[in-house]
Amino acid sequence: MVAYKSKMVERIRLPARDQRERNLEAAGYNLFNLSSDDVFVDLLTDSGTGAMSDAQWAALIRGDESYAGSRSFAELEDAVMDVMGFSNVVPTHQGRGAENVLYGALLSADDVALNNTHFDTTRAHVSNQGADPVDCPVSAAHDPDSEEPFKGNFSLERARAVVDEVGADQIPLVIQTITNNSAAGQAVSVENTRRVREFANEIDATFVIDACRFAENAYFVRQREDEFTEAAIADIAREQLGYADALVMSGKKDGLVNAGGFVATDDGALFDRCKQRAILYEGFPTYGGMAGRDVAAMAVGLREAVEDAYLEDRIEQVREFGARLAAAGLPVYTPTSGHAVYLDAGALFPHLDPGEFPGQALVCELYREGGVRGVELGSFAFPDTDRPELVRLAVPRRTYHREHFEHVVETAETVLEKRETVSGLELASDPEMPEIRHFTAELEPR
Ligand code: F0G
Repeated sequence: MVAYKSKMVERIRLPARDQRERNLEAAGYNLFNLSSDDVFVDLLTDSGTGAMSDAQWAALIRGDESYAGSRSFAELEDAVMDVMGFSNVVPTHQGRGAENVLYGALLSADDVALNNTHFDTTRAHVSNQGADPVDCPVSAAHDPDSEEPFKGNFSLERARAVVDEVGADQIPLVIQTITNNSAAGQAVSVENTRRVREFANEIDATFVIDACRFAENAYFVRQREDEFTEAAIADIAREQLGYADALVMSGKKDGLVNAGGFVATDDGALFDRCKQRAILYEGFPTYGGMAGRDVAAMAVGLREAVEDAYLEDRIEQVREFGARLAAAGLPVYTPTSGHAVYLDAGALFPHLDPGEFPGQALVCELYREGGVRGVELGSFAFPDTDRPELVRLAVPRRTYHREHFEHVVETAETVLEKRETVSGLELASDPEMPEIRHFTAELEPR
């Protein structure tokens, strides 16, 4: 059921078709290069793009900008304790700041870090410490058609194979990302989290949960995991997170804010090390790279994120969007995640090879036909991997309404009708760092 009405609005415009054509060309067929004014429905990311509540805007005004001992920080500590169950918090400017602080404290050169799937910035921060990020997804994760409920799970089998190969002493860190953003945003069961906890104990590793979308994950646990069908979302979230030694959090997702993040832990020694690193890279540990008002808004946002009415509105909106696209005949990854609908561009454009970037061709067509911006997560973003050619249509929180999604579905239908005429793309520039080329590289039609 819908849970919000609008109190403030932002004008959007659909540029004319010939203008969209020129915009695409000027952007080098890379939608990161578009001006947001030229985008009609922006589904590039769910990160920092949501609408804050009136209670959060009220908290902004009351934010305490003191350098040390800010009252807003005390509010954040209380919220993290109540919602997530951790007593020590190190605020950071966003999630990757938290990754730098925490992983710098936990990793050394030549270590191995295991994760169900490393998100881009997580992989980069592990590598930045000279360590090796190894993914352990379950095999269903890369099957767009499997209906399994917890395709985001961490594969203990794969993790044990890595232990056999490199030895437990090489692996000081085990991470579980909930939901698993780089595996189509799939959910992770509490049972899987318990088993990862036991595994981390066995190999004497620190267990970190990347909690960006912890509330959305808890909603799926209640829907899909028998043990929790009657449980409160807040209890599920606290139980699942409680198995970890530490959390990394991007407040731009389930913190319901436009900026911010933190590390949370109950381990006093780890907390001290993180605080030192935070002073170096982020700011004094009671503001850590955020304005006091943003800290205050995040404290409110965390509490709102576990409310039933919010989550039902959020997850149902994304589910319905996915169902409409599937009903229109688009190849939709199943099940639909909490934050995005993923389309299988490989299935839509069977005439295009991975080297012709079918996913990037699809995001360009969605912009050309309807001013919609999505993001490619296939051969362009992840060269040399055998992932499916996915396109992510991420849904900002509390931002778009049914009419926006109807427009996107109609746009996708138009692309579907002309799919045999869609041609591939090739690289027109070659950025230095291949892992992040999709943010800046330019392309041209083949
Ligand atoms: N971990 C995960 C699982 C993420 O999805 C992100 C960001 C981060 C860490 C980093 O957080 O952006 O606050 O520094 N994901 C965004 C996305 C950017 O579009 O999926 P950040």
